[in-house]
Amino acid sequence: MKIDVLTLFPDMFTGVFGSSILKQASDKGIVSFQTVDFREYAANKHRKVDDYPYGGGAGMVLSPQPIFDAVSALTKNGKKKPRIIMLCPQGEQHSQQKAAELAKEEHLIFLCGHYEGFDERVRHLVTDELSIGDYVLTGGELAAMVIADSVVRLLPGVLGNDESAVTDSYSTGLLEHPHYTRPADFRGMKVPDVLLSGHHAKIEEWRMEQSLRRTLERRPDLLKGYEPTAKEADILKR
Ligand code: ADE
Repeated sequence: MKIDVLTLFPDMFTGVFGSSILKQASDKGIVSFQTVDFREYAANKHRKVDDYPYGGGAGMVLSPQPIFDAVSALTKNGKKKPRIIMLCPQGEQHSQQKAAELAKEEHLIFLCGHYEGFDERVRHLVTDELSIGDYVLTGGELAAMVIADSVVRLLPGVLGNDESAVTDSYSTGLLEHPHYTRPADFRGMKVPDVLLSGHHAKIEEWRMEQSLRRTLERRPDLLKGYEPTAKEADILKR
């Protein structure tokens, strides 16, 4: 997968794309990241990328020209059309389902705005508008990092079996069960006996119950429309 990010602040991405699992994924050749400073495409001598809003009002608006030209440059050789994703608070809320959908693509282009936002005509370029939550950030960069991270970890070969995405919260429709490691007694806080029992069927049942209880307590909204298995339904009745 190719991920291009159009931003006025490419340095913000260095740490995230250059560390941990995202770095390993790019070292393995599963993903290639490119950040593009769209100021470089501004067709004026001062490299200005924004302007005052027509009709007046506070804040500056990102001009369409640098963004259209940067996207043209990034798409001119591609055979398949990329998904062009605008980050903005008015977008569809990002989700695990959306991450899985984007993970099937070959090429993603993220458009990160700053200031009051994009000239409305930039929306003609865009295939998706995404928000990461009902709050306003200073720009789309953090949102692009969040979404890129959630997509890249789903690409085949990125996570080992130990970190498998299959049992993640949300991919099963439920929150995850609690995890413990050694020691079995840490300052009087004990690991549940069942996990030390070596009884795999009992451990599985305990995990399933914990997962259901957590979801019921913390995110009952996730259980609306959830189809429990017969065993889960049994546990929910207890
Ligand atoms: N830009 C500013 N706020 C945002 C948000 N919540 N999600 C995505 N992009 C944004």
